[in-house]
Amino acid sequence: MKAALLQFAPAYLDVRANLDRAEALLEGVDADLIVLPELFASGYFFRSEADVASVAEPIPEGPTTQHLQQWAASSGATFVAGLPELGNDGQRYNSAVVARPDGTTATYRKVHLFYREKDWFAPGDLGFRVFEATTRDGTAYRLGVMICFDWYFPEAARSLALQGADVIAHPSNLVRKDCPRSMPIRALENHVVTITANRTGTETAGDEALTFIGRSVICSPQGHPLASAGREETTVLTAAFDPLASRDRQLTATNHLFRDRRPDVYTLGG
Ligand code: ACM
Repeated sequence: MKAALLQFAPAYLDVRANLDRAEALLEGVDADLIVLPELFASGYFFRSEADVASVAEPIPEGPTTQHLQQWAASSGATFVAGLPELGNDGQRYNSAVVARPDGTTATYRKVHLFYREKDWFAPGDLGFRVFEATTRDGTAYRLGVMICFDWYFPEAARSLALQGADVIAHPSNLVRKDCPRSMPIRALENHVVTITANRTGTETAGDEALTFIGRSVICSPQGHPLASAGREETTVLTAAFDPLASRDRQLTATNHLFRDRRPDVYTLGG
């Protein structure tokens, strides 16, 4: 299958412009799966409750999901993209939507909130989730989703891999520099493909500024970068791989990545 990601600098709160820009930048890209950054159409560093409220939207009725659904239907690609969700419980979540060409959607709500996100969003309450997806030639594979800061918690990628993820889509707005060198390890230790779609640019709130580090990366199950971006460039990365190759987790004749785990001796509780 072919996967692509978009790295760019969204304009703060300008959803319409960001949707149009993303679509223009990805025009003609040939991919089964396209990953966009966290909060890609709204911007990230919210300045007020009113600002978040102005762009939070229900899934699938909101403009970003509607746009992604049409885009998926016309291109044949499955999209994974971050957006501020207005849940039907009235809470706001930092979410990622999976929009498939057949019009169906699925949602992940970010579990590990970073810094000021805690002021604007409720922590994800749906757990780590793996979704069915299909390439344009009909190969079914399993798609795990996590968002940005989730990378810092190896339990996130592990939870997805143990549920059978072949590919982990990772919409991001990274500001800490360590993620690009950690994702190859997340891929290797779980034997999955990882796709980290980060943004670039700087956003300000009051007298604070956050600069996003770019350096988006697609990693193989062997922990090698298949494609990687620079710090500031606006770019589309693509990579071709067999999603089902992830399923061979035999390490030696007597070792298996998952069957050799020893949950009976791990201390992972709170
Ligand atoms: C982050 O989780 N957006 C750093």
